[in-house]
Amino acid sequence: MQISPVKSIDRYETVVCASDPEAGLDAIIAIHNSARGPALGGCRMWAYESPEAALTDVLRLAKGMTYKNALAELPFGGGKSVIVGDPAKDKTPRLLQTMGRFVESLDGRYIIAEDVGTGPGDMAIMHRETTHVAGLEGASGDPSPATAWGVFRGIQAAVKERLGQDDLEGLGVAVQGLGHVGYDLALQLAEAGTKLWVSDINEDAVADAVKAFGAFAVAPDKIYDLDVDVFAPCALGAVVNDETIDRLRCKIVAGSANNQLAEDRHGKALMERDILYAPDYAINAGGVINIYYELGTYDRDTAFAHVARIHDTLLTIFARARQAGIPTNEAADRVADERFTDPAEVAA
Ligand SMILES: NC(=O)c1ccc[n+]([C@@H]2O[C@H](COP(=O)([O-])OP(=O)(O)OC[C@H]3O[C@@H](n4cnc5c(N)ncnc54)[C@H](O)[C@@H]3O)[C@@H](O)[C@H]2O)c1
Repeated sequence: MQISPVKSIDRYETVVCASDPEAGLDAIIAIHNSARGPALGGCRMWAYESPEAALTDVLRLAKGMTYKNALAELPFGGGKSVIVGDPAKDKTPRLLQTMGRFVESLDGRYIIAEDVGTGPGDMAIMHRETTHVAGLEGASGDPSPATAWGVFRGIQAAVKERLGQDDLEGLGVAVQGLGHVGYDLALQLAEAGTKLWVSDINEDAVADAVKAFGAFAVAPDKIYDLDVDVFAPCALGAVVNDETIDRLRCKIVAGSANNQLAEDRHGKALMERDILYAPDYAINAGGVINIYYELGTYDRDTAFAHVARIHDTLLTIFARARQAGIPTNEAADRVADERFTDPAEVAA
């Protein structure tokens, strides 16, 4: 395996690539900032169109992890890795073991975890070559319940800020996507006495929710038009976009999906419509918080108590946005910046 630094990239601590044609490995690891601790971030395997596309993605994702880990008050910096290839066709044990050795070459400065195109089984294979792996099976398990709990606490914070109440009883909530996170969130919302509307392209999931919580089924494209208190996107990214924004009649957008805003400017557009947005990378950090506790002796109560602090982090973000008259996505970045131990290291 040949490991070489990628040309120096401004405001990133380390960016290295590895190539091993025999093992079929072509990968990049980017460490954005380690002021808070070793860089933790997932490994994405994707058939990138070009080396530039892979580099752009790993840089964007690594920086995102710095902000996410800082907001989640974890002793981790931000990093990410990408493997170029189609996970369905190109993934082999040898490739994964070689990737493990690549991670090991950084001596613990980067901790790898699963992401799109990789899973717990892949982490187990890498673990043969390096101890710097999180998200192994049999430790904390599926992160989705922790993510759902964090989103639930985040919705409580948003309701407190926007509607001035602690109680969710009687509020209308629309949940888009009833997968690992969305279904669990819907269950908690039902128990809290909300009135639920749900949509999913998987009709069985919708039928289950209708039966289990008395939710109202909505066609996937109609979810944006509902006159509800909270819209909780738990399926896809970029659902707040030029096409949907004028249709939204909710007071709050708060859900688990990554990259909910198609573009940053949509954060301002929500603010102008008096819709409170709970920034996605703050509200959906439950999974990564859970993974942190797995690196010690896992205790679910301790992990979930930390996840619950997402509530207070969001209140801090909302207050900052209100006081400064800025969109909440911008306020989240500012609060994250302050949670670095060395602000000079923070990327612009
Ligand atoms: N699982 C976690 O711990 C975690 C952590 C952080 C962020 N997230 C994000 O939260 C979101 C949900 O994650 P998940 O693990 O539940 O994924 P999942 O794949 O289990 O569930 C997604 C659900 O959305 C549905 N869906 C797809 N397109 C849809 C559409 N157009 N309208 C309605 N429903 C649609 C799918 O059928 C599926 O049921 C994703 O964006 C994910 O990146 C998840």
